[in-house]
Amino acid sequence: MINARPFDPEQIQRAYDRRSWLYGKLVAPFEFRNHRRAIDKAKIGPTDKVLEVAVGPGRAFLEIVKQLDQDNIACGVDAAPRMLAIAQLTLMAAGYDNFDLSEGDARKLDFADDTFDVLYNAYMLDLIPFADIPGILAEFHRVLKPGGLLVLLNMSKKDDEKMSWYERLYGGLPGSFVLHVMGACRPVLMGRFVEEAGFEEVEREFVGGVIPSETITAKLR
Ligand SMILES: C[S@@+](CC[C@H](N)C(=O)[O-])C[C@H]1O[C@@H](n2cnc3c(N)ncnc32)[C@H](O)[C@@H]1O
Repeated sequence: MINARPFDPEQIQRAYDRRSWLYGKLVAPFEFRNHRRAIDKAKIGPTDKVLEVAVGPGRAFLEIVKQLDQDNIACGVDAAPRMLAIAQLTLMAAGYDNFDLSEGDARKLDFADDTFDVLYNAYMLDLIPFADIPGILAEFHRVLKPGGLLVLLNMSKKDDEKMSWYERLYGGLPGSFVLHVMGACRPVLMGRFVEEAGFEEVEREFVGGVIPSETITAKLR
């Protein structure tokens, strides 16, 4: 596994603001099947309190909201305001209003301890430097209730034995290309980090395809 290139949070926010429309149209459709699979694993019940961190254009968030009672508000956070605007339109166009979207950073979530039954986070940890991952997982841990479920979906690779062609490209291309075209994302394997953050029953499923990905599910005792 290689580390993320050292972009600061403001660069990431600006880049995702700029690419929000294209991302929603060109990249998100290829990831949708993986989202469906990951969300199925969450087995969301109609009264569950659910948070999605890094909602992006909101395709997965819509699938989550569809599973909730009409008076149960799902919470969604993203660092990029334009992504949030697209997510808002996506949900409203589908006829849903039982959601609350807000700008925020996964490093410091604006929610009380023990608030959520399920926390869903997709294709975000793959752009986060290793040094910041434990702090983010500690935030996920903090806002989940005891017995809560963490579901992660990340760009990944089957195992960590050798460097992939994608990682070689990621490490060798100019920073602006990595940020604006590759979205700063590289393959990660998050199982060990999740265990080290104190989660239990950590399970990983690898899915190949256009965007090789892993789903991690883990519980809070
Ligand atoms: C690759 S996109 C994935 C979006 C969405 N989860 C999906 O799968 O379609 C990464 C998203 O993470 C957001 N993001 C990046 N760093 C973040 C952070 N520290 N906190 C919250 N959101 C962040 C970006 O703004 C962007 O919307």
